Amino acid sequence: MNNILEAIMHRRAVKAFEPIEISPEMREQILNAARHAPSSFNMQPYLLFWVESSARKTAVAKLCLGQSPAETASALVVAVADIGSISATSQGQLAWMRKTGFSDDKLRDYERTAKIGRIIFMPGPFGIFGAFKWTIFRLINLWKTIGMPPVSRQNLFKWATKSTSLACENLMIAAEALGLNTCPMEGFDGRRLAKFLGLSLRYHEIVMVIAIGKRSSCYIESPRWRRPLEATVTVL
Ligand SMILES: Cc1cc2nc3c(=O)[nH]c(=O)nc-3n(C[C@H](O)[C@H](O)[C@H](O)COP(=O)(O)O)c2cc1C
Repeated sequence: MNNILEAIMHRRAVKAFEPIEISPEMREQILNAARHAPSSFNMQPYLLFWVESSARKTAVAKLCLGQSPAETASALVVAVADIGSISATSQGQLAWMRKTGFSDDKLRDYERTAKIGRIIFMPGPFGIFGAFKWTIFRLINLWKTIGMPPVSRQNLFKWATKSTSLACENLMIAAEALGLNTCPMEGFDGRRLAKFLGLSLRYHEIVMVIAIGKRSSCYIESPRWRRPLEATVTVL
C-alpha cells in the first residue's frame, strides 16, 4: 500500500503509551506537517501548544480528566481555534509576498481581498455588525447565488474549528508515518485548560487535545468498526 494510505489505515486512537522521548527533530516534523494542512483563506486560524515538560504534562493530563492516553503520552498537543489572528496573518502573508517579489498587481489583489476578508470576518461589538452582515447577505441571497460568511463569533469559531481539525488530522497522520501513535481527545475541562495556557475567552477555543507517544506493548487494541460505505457516501 502507498505509505500515506498505510499511515491513514493503521492510525488508531491509542489509549496507553510507552514512556519514550520524542526528539526535537521529530517534534518539528510533526508540527510542520500540521501547519501544512489546508486552511480557509490560508488563514491558519489555530494555535498548537506542544506540552512535553513533565510538570506541565501532568497538569494538562489532569485537566484531560486523568484519561489514560493523556496520563501516559510522551507529549500532549492542545489545538486551539484562534479567531484573533486573522489580521496579523494576512499582514504576514502580504509581507512575505512583498519579500518574495510578487507583482504590484498581485499585491494589490491580495490587499483588496484581505481588506474585504477582515470586514467579512469581523463580528463587531456585541455581534451587532454580524447581525447587519447576516441581513445583507440573506437579502442578496434571495436573487443571487452566494456563500454565507461566518457572521457571529460562534460562526467564526465554527469556521476556525474546521481548519484546526484538518491541522490535527495532518499531525496525527504525520506522527503515525514517523512510527508514533496518537489519541485525539475532547474529554477535557476547557475552562481550566484555557486558563492554564493563558488563552483569551474572546479569541480562543480549545478544539481537541492530542496525546502522542509509542503504543504500549501491553495495550490490546479493540477491533475497529466503521459505518458501511453506503451509509456515509452518496455517489451522484
Ligand atoms: C474529536 C474527537 C474527540 C475524541 N475524544 C476522545 C476522548 O476524549 N477520549 C478518548 O479516549 N478517545 C477520544 N476520541 C477517539 C475516538 O474514540 C476514536 O477515534 C474512535 O472511537 C474511533 O477509533 P479509532 O480512532 O481507533 O479508529 C476522540 C476522537 C475525536 C475525533
